Amino acid sequence: MPAHMRRTEDHYSRRAREQGFPARSVFKLQQMQERFRLIRPGARILDLGAAPGSWSRYCLQTLAGRGLVVAVDLNEPSFQPTPGAEFRFLRGDLFAAEVQARLAEWGPYDLVLSDAAPHTSGSHLVDAQASLELAGRALELALLLLKPGGGTAIKVFQGGEEGTLLARLREGFTRARAFKPEASRSESREVYLLGLGRSPGGAKSG
Ligand SMILES: C[S@@+](CC[C@H](N)C(=O)[O-])C[C@H]1O[C@@H](n2cnc3c(N)ncnc32)[C@H](O)[C@@H]1O
Repeated sequence: MPAHMRRTEDHYSRRAREQGFPARSVFKLQQMQERFRLIRPGARILDLGAAPGSWSRYCLQTLAGRGLVVAVDLNEPSFQPTPGAEFRFLRGDLFAAEVQARLAEWGPYDLVLSDAAPHTSGSHLVDAQASLELAGRALELALLLLKPGGGTAIKVFQGGEEGTLLARLREGFTRARAFKPEASRSESREVYLLGLGRSPGGAKSG
């Protein structure tokens, strides 16, 4: 790995630790927030694949006391939510019907985030396929659970098939695009698919 890339990695990891975030991935969300203003005051946010919890913690911090963050993961998050906006954690598989039912009960949402990622196997093909399935499921949940006007950001490992997800985003949202935050390692094949402005037909406002 070239020296300048090692410096970038250390820089983000150190900053995350200094600021009390469990993972450096927080800066990817921060950069998407700066660019696209995904998190609005008082929003109801669904965070899929949320552990160890940097994104949820960042959302809670940005909401500054008003709104809701619902986090879902196979594993427990490793941060203590501070008093303020409401935080709910649901341990489970985002493919499970009972998880979908509970999320629907707690919805609808203004923003659906997914940083869900499979355990990497070492094979680009296998990992890209597993990531595509997770991203496809996240998009399905976003289309089902977002209020009209809501937005989504979904991680996917590029493997050649992610264009199909982008096409589905274009149908369901006013704006859709792929975005790679600067904090995402340049050697990583991950990219975030963004849908902004869910078309009418999204879940009804609660
Ligand atoms: C890169 S981590 C997310 C990091 C998180 N955004 C943060 O900032 O702390 C990816 C997460 O996806 C979760 N995940 C993978 N497959 C999942 C599934 N089927 N259901 C729920 N969570 C899943 C993993 O357990 C892992 O915690």
